[in-house]
Amino acid sequence: MISKKQQERTMQTQQTHTTIFLKDYQPSPYTVLTCTLEFIIDSTSTRVDNVMEIKRQNSEAKELRLDGEMMDLELLWVDDVLVEEGMYTKEEDAILLPLDRDTATIRVITRIYPDENTALEGLYRSGGIWCTQNEPEGFRRITYCIDRPDVMTRFTTKIIADKATCPILLSNGNLRGTATLDNGRHLAVWEDPIPKPSYLFALVAGDLGSIHDSYTTMSGKSVALAIYCDLGNEEKCRHAMRSLKKSMEWDELEYGREYDLEVYNIVAVDSFNMGAMENKGLNIFNSSYVLADEQSATDGDFMGIESVIAHEYFHNWTGNRITCRNWFELTLKEGLTVFRDQCFSADMNSELTQRIDDVRALRERQFVEDAGPTAHPIKPDHYMEINNFYTATVYEKGAEVIRMLHTLLGREGFRRAMERYFENFDGQAVGTEEFLWAMEQESPIDLTQFKRWYSQERTPVLQVSSTYDGSAEELRLKIIQKIPKNTQNCEQLPYAMPLKLALLAEDGSCYPLITSDVPLFHNDVMWIDQAVSEIIFSSIKTPPRLSLNRHFSAPVTIECDEVDYPFLMAYDSDGYVRYEASQRFALETLESMMDSAEADERFIESFGVILSDASLDPMFKAQLLELPTITALMQRQAVIDVAAINRATEKLKKIVALRYRSVLEDQINRLYAPDNCAIDGKSMGNRALKNRLLGFLMCLEEEGLGEMCKMHYDRSLSMSDRLGALDLLENYAPALAEGAFEDFYARHAHEQLLMNKYFAIRASSRRSGTLERVVELLNDPAFDLKVPNLVRALIGSFARNPIAFYSRSGEGYDFVADKIIELDTINPQIASGLAGAFKNYQKLSSEDKPAMKNALERIKNHPNLSNNVYEIVIKIL
Ligand code: BES
Ligand code: ZN
Repeated sequence: MISKKQQERTMQTQQTHTTIFLKDYQPSPYTVLTCTLEFIIDSTSTRVDNVMEIKRQNSEAKELRLDGEMMDLELLWVDDVLVEEGMYTKEEDAILLPLDRDTATIRVITRIYPDENTALEGLYRSGGIWCTQNEPEGFRRITYCIDRPDVMTRFTTKIIADKATCPILLSNGNLRGTATLDNGRHLAVWEDPIPKPSYLFALVAGDLGSIHDSYTTMSGKSVALAIYCDLGNEEKCRHAMRSLKKSMEWDELEYGREYDLEVYNIVAVDSFNMGAMENKGLNIFNSSYVLADEQSATDGDFMGIESVIAHEYFHNWTGNRITCRNWFELTLKEGLTVFRDQCFSADMNSELTQRIDDVRALRERQFVEDAGPTAHPIKPDHYMEINNFYTATVYEKGAEVIRMLHTLLGREGFRRAMERYFENFDGQAVGTEEFLWAMEQESPIDLTQFKRWYSQERTPVLQVSSTYDGSAEELRLKIIQKIPKNTQNCEQLPYAMPLKLALLAEDGSCYPLITSDVPLFHNDVMWIDQAVSEIIFSSIKTPPRLSLNRHFSAPVTIECDEVDYPFLMAYDSDGYVRYEASQRFALETLESMMDSAEADERFIESFGVILSDASLDPMFKAQLLELPTITALMQRQAVIDVAAINRATEKLKKIVALRYRSVLEDQINRLYAPDNCAIDGKSMGNRALKNRLLGFLMCLEEEGLGEMCKMHYDRSLSMSDRLGALDLLENYAPALAEGAFEDFYARHAHEQLLMNKYFAIRASSRRSGTLERVVELLNDPAFDLKVPNLVRALIGSFARNPIAFYSRSGEGYDFVADKIIELDTINPQIASGLAGAFKNYQKLSSEDKPAMKNALERIKNHPNLSNNVYEIVIKIL
């Protein structure tokens, strides 16, 4: 059965693309006090009966607008009077009802078609499971409603479905009753006592396996915990359950936040547009962030699950109880919650390696975004498609902005400010202004200038220079803020930020910082708020080394010619600065190799010092020894030349491998523990280091090394080892790779999560012929264009593979463009995610530009293009 709505959509020829502005925000004229829903789930369609108690908030209002898309409207009543056609206006995405009274009861019956819903917004079917995704605007695909986050409602949900196919019926809140009905049906009633916006509504129905546990909160209330998954996967949910309990405990200890319902349910589904969703009391997760065991998941998967489970749990306070006034305020919940999950992961694992990973991700994704055509402030002031704004900027830069406040207020002050925020705004939909008000109450400094972080875009640069006066024992430090123009080419203003720094003596110790010019917090953090700052430090006995932006205290780029990379790499007491020095040193070494082909001997030596340092934590050592990615190098080029980057990188790896061959072999042998697949920090660190070192050796492309790598693939029990080896075989020993891929396929063809890895390795290959192999894999029985994880693994990995994607022929662009066009009718969110691959268009050489332009124009001119893809493509062009 094809819905009327689907037919209308396919017949429609001209799409309009409108922009929504923050300045146009108005509070909702009506609100919804209660929403009582009844779902009757049938095999081909679902009937939704929705009764809403409406209250007028603005006495001037005369007309009620109810959002609704992609469904059939069957019946509508206002206060028990049937509303017939002609008594209201029906638009493409809403109905408008005359309503001149202060309270009313609206009942609306709609029919929806979850099986046809490939966009995965609203109610859809993943595998055999009915599930929902309503953030940001999916609820309007379930029923007519006021679908905006500042309308908070008490929901009661009755679900009726066939008992055999749907033994499990879940919704938000607490279970209030179940009953058996005729015709093999049954029902469940769920009641959520806490008002929430419609985007947090959730429903799940199907035949699911589960594991159960309980948690006693700090005030002694018992919460029933459950994780649901496909039958047979139950044991793979144990790690997620442990992570959930740790998260609940952490939020109590760190912020005094207790959970507020009788149950906390998590459901894992295979088809999901994002990682996970924080629906009240009923989180829905991409199964890749729930399922794991030692044999099937990598170390990274285990860490990822712990942090995503925590993130969605922490939203219960930062997002659900206090929510966003409108979607321009998204960073209020997302930036803050990312900051909270980062702190949690740091506490659970290693603070230093967590910080390095977070900064690395910020640089790799957010800095690139902020420098390109889709740059926007963490609080944007306009959008075409809100789904395009769940970005690295709103999330990761948003988290850095919160972290700066944390640095400014100190741990205790920040906690007091958060308590104030919770106390004052619980139960409300607010904005970043309210959050900043709470912070301001505990801040030693006025936050007016700091707020520019919310409204300006692009990454500021700090140019740092110093002069040392030995006779006066003074160091004069000069810091110039270079503020880039924004995407509209307008000037922007200097920021206020905490800059953590140290002046190091020869033995690596820090001079005490004595200065009278600039406020210092916690002794080593300066508050920089001028375009140009000059600071004099006294009692500095010898010319010091500069250790700047320690712990990455501000999300800026530092430019300073005086930094002594070898010294900092080896001696800085701030591990983050050691990492940063190694990265910058490698970047500069590689850049000079692109011109002269000679590697800087000092870099090779510094690399050797780290390599031979047995005192370093293995995970940290693996981070220090990572060479910058091609993406990081591209970012610094005015005109992109992927081939030159790749040549330099491979050459540097070979130089290192030849110079340190015996050390590498020796350490690899010592670290190699094929029978160990434990996921404790030490085992994971050893594996990360072993795989890093193996990567250097393998680029020598010798037969014997290939055999060793193949042995790691064959013999290791840990999935991190096996996949690490498979990737290296693919790139450096293709003759041996084929057999390994066959083996992998034979073992795992029916495990979707593992096929994601398989496709990702093949599509990320730097060998020639990658496009041809990817095209062939599209027809693999394990591939399915309707499953976002598989699309991200195969097509997404290809689009992020600079060597294959930027191929001179333009075939890579054409391939990705074709897939975007094809996917746009299936799932516009996934299609627009891929469109970001073209963001370097303006930085291509004049020879390379026409091919990409042609691909972009082809997308742009495609009839019926979604807002999602259109917005990204026009920004790039
Ligand atoms: N609220 C989001 C889920 C979401 C994302 C809804 C995009 C609608 C559009 C959720 O809390 C979230 O942020 N999920 C992240 C993972 C998280 C650990 C950063 C995701 O899905 O990527
Ligand atoms: Zn989130």
